[in-house]
Amino acid sequence: MTRLVHVSAPSGSYEVKIGSGLLPAIGQEVRAVTKAQRCAVVSGTNVYPLYGDAVHSSLECAGFETVSLVFPAGEQTKCLERYGELLNFLTYNRFTRSDCVVALGGGVTGDLAGFAAATYQRGVPYVQVPTTLLAAVDSSVGGKTAIDLPAGKNQVGAFYQPSLVLCDTDTLQTLPERELRAGYAEVIKYAVLGDPALFEALKNRSVDLPAVIETCVRRKAEIVAEDERDTGKRRLLNLGHSFGHAVESRSAYALLHGEAVAVGTAMICRAAQSRGLLSEADRDAVIALLRDYGLPTETTYSADELLDTLRLDKKISGGKLHLVVPREIGRCDILPVPEEELRAWLEAGLR
Ligand code: NAD
Ligand code: GLY
Repeated sequence: MTRLVHVSAPSGSYEVKIGSGLLPAIGQEVRAVTKAQRCAVVSGTNVYPLYGDAVHSSLECAGFETVSLVFPAGEQTKCLERYGELLNFLTYNRFTRSDCVVALGGGVTGDLAGFAAATYQRGVPYVQVPTTLLAAVDSSVGGKTAIDLPAGKNQVGAFYQPSLVLCDTDTLQTLPERELRAGYAEVIKYAVLGDPALFEALKNRSVDLPAVIETCVRRKAEIVAEDERDTGKRRLLNLGHSFGHAVESRSAYALLHGEAVAVGTAMICRAAQSRGLLSEADRDAVIALLRDYGLPTETTYSADELLDTLRLDKKISGGKLHLVVPREIGRCDILPVPEEELRAWLEAGLR
């Protein structure tokens, strides 16, 4: 069974297809959404050996010429140097605006390849093929693409929607356990944001992964349709991310993105509870769920260390950071918090 979610963003509409056995049909799927003659498969050193052949042969059967570029796995690949390498690769291979980039991998591959696609010749079509849970439920959908700078995460990027997202859930079978757990941090995010039923199902472990992916993608699609460029409702998707990004950057990416989001979610729940905005019971339930999925909920960084990093957050504008604050399980508010109050929020989050 293939699950379909339609994303209707102001700058472009596309399908997210979720299900088992989709990879061998990628050629026909890409054919249906682009006029490309050539596809550049961008992937990572862990994923490409597992799925590269299947993708190439399907694309070639559908009549595409294919080339591939494989980067070292890991967040360090989301950098200016690799981005430049990818742009040069497309140029040397004489890619034109009507050709297509295929991002085969997790969020790192999707963010890097998506940003290259957004900017190469002012934009070429790209297809997201997420192979991690995190990428399936979040990063492959919605068109946020970015690379990191030494000074900060996701500092350079573009909103650029893919032409298709093809999520073959079979690929999740080879995902290392730690990466799967990290993906659950984003799933728990969606539950805390707006889905108490999903929260209960996660608690009871009565979840079917393709159904969970569909639920999360549907929620994201609704939000992106309303606020593609992150000026309002989309900020909700940053639950756990403001403090999480600071923890992630401080750890020099020793913590996985999802793990850092879990710490950030626990921190904002503690801070919200200490201000009377969230009940103790809901704070404890969120933290217990994160721990139950093997995710970290504490950090040893001090409020001052995190504040230094947080000050570089691109989401601070007009001297304020929009914090996503849980009010109860299934409901969060966006609070503009003045920069000078952030230390107190962080301190409360660390307690
Ligand atoms: P990732 O891309 O680094 O992948 C995790 C690891 O798993 C890597 O080592 C990868 O090689 C390996 N891997 C991937 N799929 C595999 C598979 N099927 N089998 C075996 N190994 C596999 O990490 P991620 O968690 O997918 O993504 C994190 C990135 O996503 C961060 O850079 C984060 O900033 C970004 N992100 C972006 C958005 C967005 O909206 N654009 C949203 C959330 C996160
Ligand atoms: N991952 C946050 C967003 O897509 O807005």
